[in-house]
Amino acid sequence: MARTCLSIILAAGEGTRMKSSRSKVLHEVARLPMVAHVARAASRAGAARLALVVGRSAEAVEAAVAREVRSVTTHLQAERLGTAHAVLAAREAIEEGHDDVLILYGDSPLIRAETLRRARAILRTGADLCVFGFRAADPNGYGRILTREGQVLAIREEKDASEAERAVDLCNGGAMAISGRIALDLLTAVGNDNAKGEYYLTDVVEICRSRGGTIRAIEADADEVLGVNNRVELAGVEAIWQARRRRELMLAGVTLQAPETVHLAHDTEIAADVTLEPNVVFGPGVNVATGATIHAFSHLEGASIGEGASVGPFARLRPGTALSRDAKVGNFCEVKNASIAEGAKVNHLTYIGDAEIGADANIGAGTITCNYDGALKHRTVIGANTFIGSNSALVAPVRIGDGAYVGSGSVITEDVPDDALALGRGRQVNKPGRGREIAERNRAAKAAKADAKTAAAE
Ligand code: UD1
Ligand code: MG
Repeated sequence: MARTCLSIILAAGEGTRMKSSRSKVLHEVARLPMVAHVARAASRAGAARLALVVGRSAEAVEAAVAREVRSVTTHLQAERLGTAHAVLAAREAIEEGHDDVLILYGDSPLIRAETLRRARAILRTGADLCVFGFRAADPNGYGRILTREGQVLAIREEKDASEAERAVDLCNGGAMAISGRIALDLLTAVGNDNAKGEYYLTDVVEICRSRGGTIRAIEADADEVLGVNNRVELAGVEAIWQARRRRELMLAGVTLQAPETVHLAHDTEIAADVTLEPNVVFGPGVNVATGATIHAFSHLEGASIGEGASVGPFARLRPGTALSRDAKVGNFCEVKNASIAEGAKVNHLTYIGDAEIGADANIGAGTITCNYDGALKHRTVIGANTFIGSNSALVAPVRIGDGAYVGSGSVITEDVPDDALALGRGRQVNKPGRGREIAERNRAAKAAKADAKTAAAE
């Protein structure tokens, strides 16, 4: 039978350096709260049960991870007495008797599921404990992992370390995997007789060793254990996350002409043979099918882009947008909650909201769906093979039939039958010679004004 796994995420830090009214772990990386990134990695590594240790905002933090793991409980650590004390706040969850216990930090969102799986694999071989090491360019401030002949002896906190111990560059990333069988025994044996007077989680290593247990260390990338304490570090972690994901996409067949200018969300899905031009921003909920091109300076959120479709430059697609195969949304167009069927074109300066556009329709420049009456939103349905003349206002609710033709500059307030021509504008009047008369009159007035000015100056 598969081993069960509990993950405990420590998120009780005050986060004062964020200078924020929100809990630190709710700040987002790639549009997803940091704590949800951690929960997602744990869940992908097989942790079906999650215990959150929080100091405040319990409900908000729990809501942030609800979509990642089915079984979540929140545990309040009222006083912050150290990392072991924090883990013990989730004692009840540990007592449920899971095979593996993963301890993670809510403010280190770059941890990979793959690394957590490696740690669990080590417990599966019978080890009692697995710690996450990394090689730090500057080990200052980190606990050091002390080893002899491949055996982990202890983790020494910087403040408690000797000169020789400080020279060790294998640092403690913070996360830990403990066999559920002994987790509580080890944790409850931790004391606080040390430089900080805190209950150090890291002490479980020496305790486990003194009881004859097996402790192993795995090495993670230094990025994976990066913690966020202020907004500069938040931006740094964001940049690493973005670079990672862009690289994955490129290796999976997506062209990014200027990768560093493309901003992705945690759930952006892009198929092979899609081209992303420079300066494209993805909010959450976007998927792009193969062969599509997203031209420069476009902003997409909650949108589904069909095969071969073309978006932008300078397009804004808002939630509920669905472009079918080969549809086109061009420059300075905004689309919201609207479907645009196969081959239809919305090319210039247009707003399409709460609408349905049929196949091969051509929406002229400056067309506006007037979807809002100041109180309610209404739908516009535009049939297949229609032609909407430039600068038309379609006042919803309204339906334009298949094959219909709307004259430019129309204000359409009534449904248009299939194949009809609709004109909703003032009729044009031509007055022969009147243009020249007006021009002559105006020129004469200008000359008279100039004469008067010269006379006054003399
Ligand atoms: C900890 C490790 C250290 C490691 C470093 C990696 C211990 C004793 N030390 O040190 O070996 O190199 O992380 O970053 O574990 N937290 C609580 N409640 C508490 C204390 C902490 O929830 O009472 C949370 C914090 O919000 C944070 C995490 O636990 O997310 C780590 O705490 P922190 O104070 O940053 O530990 P370090 O001293 O950095
Ligand atoms: Mg820290």
